[in-house]
Amino acid sequence: MADSRVAIVTGAARGIGAATAKRLAEDGFAVAVIDLDEKQCADTVSAIESGGGTALAVGCDVSDAGQVESAVDRIAAKLGGPTVLVNNAGVIRDNMLFKMSEDDWDTVMNVHLRGSFLMSRAVQKHMVEAKWGRIVNLSSTSALGNRGQANYSTAKAGLQGLTKTLAIELGKFGVTANAIAPGFIATDMTKATAERVGMDFEDFAKAAASQIPVARAGQPEDVANTVSFFVDERSGFVSGQVIYVAGGPKV
Ligand SMILES: NC(=O)c1ccc[n+]([C@@H]2O[C@H](COP(=O)([O-])OP(=O)(O)OC[C@H]3O[C@@H](n4cnc5c(N)ncnc54)[C@H](O)[C@@H]3O)[C@@H](O)[C@H]2O)c1
Repeated sequence: MADSRVAIVTGAARGIGAATAKRLAEDGFAVAVIDLDEKQCADTVSAIESGGGTALAVGCDVSDAGQVESAVDRIAAKLGGPTVLVNNAGVIRDNMLFKMSEDDWDTVMNVHLRGSFLMSRAVQKHMVEAKWGRIVNLSSTSALGNRGQANYSTAKAGLQGLTKTLAIELGKFGVTANAIAPGFIATDMTKATAERVGMDFEDFAKAAASQIPVARAGQPEDVANTVSFFVDERSGFVSGQVIYVAGGPKV
């Protein structure tokens, strides 16, 4: 275990990222809460601080190399070298292939793939120095293919390849890399999808739950719990894996 227990969670202003930041704080990490705008991070930071934890709000677009480098430098200076990285920041730009714009394609690739690459590259030096680290990437059941998500499913499948390569390259430095592929999780992202298809969110979530073996929608905490498992000191022999957190196997 590294001396410094500092974790970074990207896209942590809300949803899965916020739940994960709070969970890692409960697990004893000082947490850098990254999102596009520093002010957006205030709720997550104050929830962690009121629970007695340490958190730092950091505004950073993970797809911008310069912003990523300076964010990681600032985190290392303020909290200590980060040894846990959760690449969670994400966006959707759903459309059928024939209507999908190049911008919709590029935005999704840039946030998920370029963002996770840039963050991992910036943070790995601290992990290698500490000879300990944990990287967790957020994939999705959409990696297996999903109508209207040519961009997103490609990015989420790509993240599984990135995860396995990081596991191979960084393993000898005590660093593991794993991916979580959630199914339907109730967040603003799935709310936006309900809106796009013109459905009330409750009905949308109920329809999703009817297809899920455990008969309920997932919650951000379901994913945060799995992150906590991968990050645990005792999970050091689990690397390069993809775990589906979907209430059952993908249907
Ligand atoms: N909700 C689901 O059902 C579901 C399922 C599978 C995978 N996921 C994945 O889990 C992750 C979190 O999803 P969520 O449902 O909590 O989404 P969300 O939309 O509620 O939150 C995503 C966060 O990422 C931030 N973000 C977006 N672009 C960014 C950038 N360039 N730099 C920094 N931050 C940025 C947003 O501001 C937002 O706070 C995403 O990677 C998503 O693709 C979600």
